[in-house]
Order: sequence, then structure tokens, then C-alpha cells
Amino acid sequence: MFSSLNYLSFVLLCSMRQRSYKTFWKEADSLVKSVGVSHLCSRCQNLSVSFWNSYWMLPSDVCGMNCFWEAAFRYDYMKTHPSEKMHLAVVACGERLEETVTMLRSAIIFSIKPLHFHIFAEDQLHESFKDILDEFPYEGRVNYTLYPITFPSESAAEWKKLFKPCASQRLFLPLILKNVDSLLYVDTDILFLRPVDDIWSFLRKFNSTQIAAMAPEHEEPRIGWYNRFARHPYYGVTGINSGVMLMNMTRIRRKYFKNDMTPVRLQWGEILMPLLKKYKLNITWGDQDLLNIMFFHNPESLYVFPCQWNYRPDHCIYGSNCKAAEEEGIFILHGNRGVYHDDKQPTFRAVYEAIKNYSFGDDLVHSLLQPLEQELQKTTHTYCGRVYKVFIKQLTQSIRDLYARRSKGR
Ligand SMILES: *[C@@H]1O[C@H](CO)[C@@H](O)[C@H](O)[C@H]1NC(C)=O
Ligand SMILES: *[C@@H]1O[C@H](CO)[C@@H](O)[C@H](O)[C@H]1NC(C)=O
Ligand SMILES: *[C@@H]1O[C@H](CO)[C@@H](O)[C@H](O)[C@H]1NC(C)=O
Ligand SMILES: *[C@@H]1O[C@H](CO)[C@@H](O)[C@H](O)[C@H]1NC(C)=O
Ligand SMILES: *[C@@H]1O[C@H](CO)[C@@H](O)[C@H](O)[C@H]1NC(C)=O
Ligand SMILES: *[C@@H]1O[C@H](CO)[C@@H](O)[C@H](O)[C@H]1NC(C)=O
Repeated sequence: MFSSLNYLSFVLLCSMRQRSYKTFWKEADSLVKSVGVSHLCSRCQNLSVSFWNSYWMLPSDVCGMNCFWEAAFRYDYMKTHPSEKMHLAVVACGERLEETVTMLRSAIIFSIKPLHFHIFAEDQLHESFKDILDEFPYEGRVNYTLYPITFPSESAAEWKKLFKPCASQRLFLPLILKNVDSLLYVDTDILFLRPVDDIWSFLRKFNSTQIAAMAPEHEEPRIGWYNRFARHPYYGVTGINSGVMLMNMTRIRRKYFKNDMTPVRLQWGEILMPLLKKYKLNITWGDQDLLNIMFFHNPESLYVFPCQWNYRPDHCIYGSNCKAAEEEGIFILHGNRGVYHDDKQPTFRAVYEAIKNYSFGDDLVHSLLQPLEQELQKTTHTYCGRVYKVFIKQLTQSIRDLYARRSKGR
């Protein structure tokens, strides 16, 4: 029990109890009771003195009481839902409603096993999400839960300004979705061109030390960002991209991570804020940089999947450099840099619009594939348009597979 809980929250809970701070006391006490760990309160302070003295000041920043704990226990319902489902998480803030919904639609179109969406969104987006998601044709295959954006409260401002609004939320998913074993996190600008089941199946390929899977940030070191500019450690030759991140969160919660802040290994919930503090002035891409630092120190824990599972403009805007996609097509498209919404990369935009335009139930060949191919043929004046066939190669196969399953009644 103790090891699976956020240690720093413990310390805070304990100190709250002692101060008898009225409102918090009640809340903290009932939380402590509800997890049956009140006896640990004296112990964690003892530990904190002997073990944690070197950065005893840090816990107050990590806090957790109102956020980690509340969130973790409020969403406890997963306990009663065994994990034969696939779990997909996304964080939507600002203007990302339509983009997120389009991503979710692409997941629904091709997936086979039941899906549960965990949607973290700013409060003002909840009603719209609910209205739209309740209209989706689920056929009992899809369920969703909406969550507020949840940060460690005292450092909320610091986390929020770290990167694009709310993006660092993903770092806290293993702590918030405590009863979810495994999770696929994706950015809002992702489109699935084949069943979620296929990337989900990488979980079974993890060896005993692997806890997460991501794609490299670049295929071509000459245009790589990390290897040319980073002022912090990063994974591998060109770093990793966190826009598509498959996690065995059971393992993430259990692991003690090597790090360059203390000789002691730290758990996920303990390592984030010290890492941010240390590298705050040197990181550019926010939480993705923190993940790169973490996996630099724990490389045996990462499963690297090929670039066609996270295909970005960088893979074609200077010429095609994702060999795997040239051969097998793009599996997951990642339109970062806003390319679904401007005219800079019409190839990416066409795929986005085609999925957005598609109505569930319509014939996929006539209502999705054919109009898309027509649009793509207009983009051959661009570098990405020159390889437009890689954008529909897997999509064509996915549609074929889907119709084959349907004709067999599965
Ligand atoms: C904590 O430390 C105090 C004094 O050092 C000791 O009396 C107490 O037994 C310790 N509690 C635990 C749970 O180890
Ligand atoms: C969907 O999830 C909710 C919790 O968000 C749960 O109460 C409900 O039973 C689930 N429905 C199905 C069909 O699994
Ligand atoms: C941050 O970058 C500067 C300049 O490259 C470097 O000297 C410093 O060691 C870096 N800080 C950390 C914590 O790596
Ligand atoms: C995740 O890891 C745990 C612990 O090793 C294991 O029991 C579980 O089956 C794994 N989940 C998946 C989906 O492979
Ligand atoms: C698992 O795979 C990673 C990456 O190939 C490797 O670094 C690690 O040593 C492997 N772990 C085991 C236990 O073989
Ligand atoms: C999507 O619909 C818009 C508006 O009806 C149309 O202009 C566009 O060509 C369509 N795009 C694709 C790829 O189907």
C-alpha cells in the first residue's frame, strides 16, 4: 500500500493532521481512514527525516492533497471494471475540442476491442464534450469519463506554464488513474489510421524492464532538435516524442527511477517536481523534455516503436525520412505545429478534414477514402504531398480489414 501511494502527499497529509487545520484536517483524516494508512503517518515523518533530509524543502511544492488525492479517489470506479478494455487518455484545453473529437472518432472507426476514453478537459469544455460524445454510435464498445484538469495544487501555476496549456497533465496520469493498469496517452492532434488494438498490442511485447513505449523524436539526426540544441540529457540519439505514449502504469507506479538528483531511486510521484526544479531553465518542450531526462537515466524501461506509429510533418517536410512509413504506410498521424488548421501542410490537413467530414455509418470507401485521395492529389507540389500514398496506404488496408471483419459478423 505504502509504496503505491505518493509518498510526498503522505508527508503533507501528516503535517496537516498535526496542525489540526480545520477544514483540511477533516478531509485529510477521512482520506487517511479511507485508505487505512493512518498508522503510516508517524512512519513517514520518521522516514522523511532520515531519508529525505537532503531536499526536505521540496515536498511542499509537490503537495498533492487537493489534486492527486482527490482525483485519485474520486475516480476509483475502475476498480470494479476489469481491464479487458483498452484505455485511451487525452488532455484537451483551449481551442482543442474539435480536434480532440476528430481524434476520438478516428479511434472509434477502426478499433475492435472495447475502448474507454479518459478525457481531461478544462471545465468550460465539459458540456460540449458530453453533448458530442453522447451522440456517438457506441454499439456498447466505447465508454468515456470526463475529468477536470488536475495539478499538484501549490505548483499548479508552475506546471501550467511549463508547456502548451495543460500538456503536463499527462505526467500525472499514472497517479490519477490509479486503478487503470495500462493506458495509451495521445495528443489531441493524433489521428488513428488503424485499430487502437494494434498499438495496444505492444504492451504484451514489453520485456520485464519496459514500462512505456514511444517513438523517436527524429529519424534524421541532421535535422534533430535534441541532438543539436538540448541543454539537458535526452533518450537515445535524437530523443523521444511523447505525443503517442503507451504506458503500463502498474509498472510505472512500482518502479524506482535512477536519477541525477539523489543517489536514492525515486518513484514517479516523487521525481517530477525535483526534476522540474533542476531543469526548469534548460527545458524547451516542457514535459516531453522531462520524459527524455527520465528515460535517459532509465533506458532499459523504454520500448521504442517505429516512426509510422507517430508520423509528424518532420518526417516529410524536408523530404521523406520515415522509411517504415514508406514501406507500410502511416499508422498514426500526428499533425503537430497546428498543421490541421493552416495551409502549410495540406497533406496533413486533408486527412484531418476527411475524418472530420466522415459520418459514422457511411461507406468508408466512398465517404472517406475517395474524397481524401482526391484532396491528396492536389498536394503533390509539397514535399509531403509527393509521398501522399503513404498517407492512405494503411488507411486503405484498415478499411479492407474492417469490411472483412464485418462480413464475417465480427
Ligand atoms: C519515529 O521516531 C520516534 C523517535 O525517533 C520513535 O519513538 C518512533 O517509534 C518512530 N516511529 C516509527 C513508526 O518508526
Ligand atoms: C461507463 O463508465 C461509467 C463510469 O464513467 C460506468 O459507470 C458505466 O457503467 C460504464 N458503462 C459501460 C457500458 O461500461
Ligand atoms: C543548463 O544549461 C547550461 C548551459 O548549457 C549548462 O551549463 C547547465 O549545466 C545546464 N543545467 C543542467 C541542470 O543541466
Ligand atoms: C502491466 O504490468 C503488470 C506488472 O508487470 C502486469 O501484471 C500487467 O499484465 C501488465 N499489463 C499489460 C496490459 O500487459
Ligand atoms: C528490455 O529491452 C530494453 C531495450 O531493448 C533493454 O535495454 C533492456 O535491457 C531489456 N530488459 C531485459 C530484462 O532484457
Ligand atoms: C471536407 O468538407 C469540406 C466542406 O464540405 C470540403 O471543402 C473538403 O473538400 C472536404 N475534405 C475532404 C478531404 O473530404
